[in-house]
Amino acid sequence: MKAIATACANIALVKYWGKKDPSLNTPARGSLSVTLEALATTTEVELGGGAEDRLVLGGVERIGRELGRVNRFLDRVRSLAGSDARASVRSVTTFPIAAGLASSASGFAALAVAASRAFGLDLDPRALSQLARQGSGSAARSIFGGFVRMHAGHLADGSDAYAEPIQRVAPRLELRAAIAVARAKEKAVGSTEGMERSRITSPYHGAWLELVDRDLAAAEAALSAGDFDRLAEIAEGSCLAMHADAMAARPGIVYFNAATCWAIERVRALRQQGVPVFFTIDAGPHLVAFTTPSELARVRDALGAYEGIERVISSKVGPGASLVDAPIEEERP
Ligand code: PMV
Repeated sequence: MKAIATACANIALVKYWGKKDPSLNTPARGSLSVTLEALATTTEVELGGGAEDRLVLGGVERIGRELGRVNRFLDRVRSLAGSDARASVRSVTTFPIAAGLASSASGFAALAVAASRAFGLDLDPRALSQLARQGSGSAARSIFGGFVRMHAGHLADGSDAYAEPIQRVAPRLELRAAIAVARAKEKAVGSTEGMERSRITSPYHGAWLELVDRDLAAAEAALSAGDFDRLAEIAEGSCLAMHADAMAARPGIVYFNAATCWAIERVRALRQQGVPVFFTIDAGPHLVAFTTPSELARVRDALGAYEGIERVISSKVGPGASLVDAPIEEERP
């Protein structure tokens, strides 16, 4: 059996930072995100043809840590399907994976959809979201398009830790994203390690967790009211609080570089000039600015003006993950 699926990355406006149960990969709190059309992964899963799982990303065969993570994920799918077939996984993205954009979110969402189908499972979106979560926490949200709410859940087995689309969004709230890809030399501390270190050593971690539920309720209210300014305030606040938690860990984790700080100032200067724009930043140096369709070009040009920013990718709000018919086309490495 063979199946192909595509999924978009997402970026959280109310961040996920801290796990409840690392073995189930359940989050300590919920989160809220926007799916990004421009950052997509397409993945093909084909069963049989070997004694081991294989992984080819962007035309390059992967072994070691990357293969191990996919292999463990496929073990979960095999156990759901009652199968011991090995799979060959081929994946391509519309953006550079090495740049540290949210490739695990789109990657594990596409893999959940393609692998479950290839193994003959018929999972509904909620079950797919739960499955994707086990590959990467943020991948649970990439099963859905638009604005998405992740639930932390209460059950010990993690079966109620899934995402779902937010229905009540005012139509006037039409967002565009300008993704400022910062030039970065070193690879940042991974999110799993960063979250764990923050949980164990950061004096701000408890305060961070307390803030999340309040921000989630306020963000949902801002979405249904179509209140851009309020959403801006919550998103920047959640982002900076998450980074404050990480920075206060021992040793402190600083994901920002000079380009990130420059871009924060630039976004705020634009806002002072009356441009509706706000930023958010994940566990890396790249900044994502949200604005309105009519101001996108201005925001993109402003962010691209700094030499520490390699490129700016424009994006609409994206759709949910889905099966596709077309075979994937790999670039020559
Ligand atoms: O999907 P993970 O386990 O790599 O966690 C992602 C965490 C952040 O991107 C930093 C925040 C978020 O909510 O996506």
